[in-house]
Amino acid sequence: MTSFDAAIFSTHSSIKSGELDIAGVLATQLAADYGTPLFVVDESDFKARAKGWNNALNSAFGVSDGMVYYAAKSFVCKEIARWVSETGIGLDVCTGGEMAVAIAAGFPMDRVELHGNNKSEKEIRTAIEVGIGTIVVDSFHEIERVSRIAAELGKVQKVYIRVTPGVEAHTHEFISTAHEDVKFGFSIASGAAWTAIQEIRKSSSLNLAGLHSHIGSQIFASEGFAAAAVKVIAVLAKYRDAFGSELPELDLGGGYGIAYIPGEITLDPTVVMSELAAVVKRECAAAKIAVPKISIEPGRAIVGPTTTTLYTVGTTKDVALDNGATRRYVAVDGGMSDNIRPALYGAEYLAIIANRSSTATQINCRVVGKHCESGDIIIREIQLAQDLVPGDLLAIPATGAYGRSMASNYNHLTRPAVIAVKDGKARLIVRRETETDLLALEL
Ligand code: LLP
Repeated sequence: MTSFDAAIFSTHSSIKSGELDIAGVLATQLAADYGTPLFVVDESDFKARAKGWNNALNSAFGVSDGMVYYAAKSFVCKEIARWVSETGIGLDVCTGGEMAVAIAAGFPMDRVELHGNNKSEKEIRTAIEVGIGTIVVDSFHEIERVSRIAAELGKVQKVYIRVTPGVEAHTHEFISTAHEDVKFGFSIASGAAWTAIQEIRKSSSLNLAGLHSHIGSQIFASEGFAAAAVKVIAVLAKYRDAFGSELPELDLGGGYGIAYIPGEITLDPTVVMSELAAVVKRECAAAKIAVPKISIEPGRAIVGPTTTTLYTVGTTKDVALDNGATRRYVAVDGGMSDNIRPALYGAEYLAIIANRSSTATQINCRVVGKHCESGDIIIREIQLAQDLVPGDLLAIPATGAYGRSMASNYNHLTRPAVIAVKDGKARLIVRRETETDLLALEL
């Protein structure tokens, strides 16, 4: 039986007289005012989660200067960057485009770190010119480029080295990043990470402040994070042995899992951070080095649960299956262009009818989009009320991360608007694309 699940919808969501209400605004009102498909972000929920990770990090390590870098790739726009800035945390960007949003939002650039396995000369130059806090270097070519460009600009750039700790992250292959055979980082096992340390130390325009490791995304098993921390701290100890000084900072990346379907539970920052702190403190004590200043980079765990997608049902179709059963295809007005995750990673989602309650029998359904592709499936199997008809609204929770940010214009669909809701008020933060926008690129 499919129904509203408070553990999956954003914190200020509820059912009021049979209708979905998000932070005091009815889904029907949002759909009427802004159209569908629509991404609806629960603003207070976003800020609370950002602060929650920051507080959990600092209290677990007993410090006040731990750094949470919100991973912009999960979803960013100028308004989100302003919320991140207000909460006092940092921002992880991985392209010139994400950096441009931070700059346009007036984000304090010293709290920004730049990632990416193939940063262009232009991206590196802009980052250094605007005074970016940290560049996380990912290849030998890049060490040369950052060193040269910083020298040209007369600056000393703080850098971290992204290392590959060689651990299995227990998530989908495409979002697993810490095993050896991967494009990211310098391998610890092969000695590449050590060579990178030596290269950077030779440059007078680079200031090596620490190491960085990110093992993957949507991870629930804490062993992966712990195993990576152990490997990385061993490199910090080796550094102290070789050079007699300690690297002061360590970035342990993001990847914390959230709930998408009933039965799943979003990781609690307090629990995750205290487990991680225990491992880091134990390993540093054993190696006789000070606990470095720790940073983390959650994206999904901050924005994912805060957002709900609203769709309008356009058609339904009953299809007979080989086993004699029937499947009802419920087609909505978006699809793989606003949520590629089911097609790309086999991701699963929940959907509920958002505009009314129904006591009708629930039947076997498949929620699909409007793209010209059979793989355009949002939910492969779900029980929905038999009386679902065109015009009904479907709400899909937990779409804040890697939904709008991975949206495309496939089939020339226009990308949905993003609305922020708070205390009974809704406001547009990213407008819906129009067909004029699509045509505007053509010469
Ligand atoms: N830091 C680094 C260096 C990363 O590469 C990522 C994500 C993060 C932090 C944030 O990870 P999070 O806390 O959001 O899990 N499109 C995929 C996820 C790709 C993640 C890429 N890197 C998905 O939809 O599941």
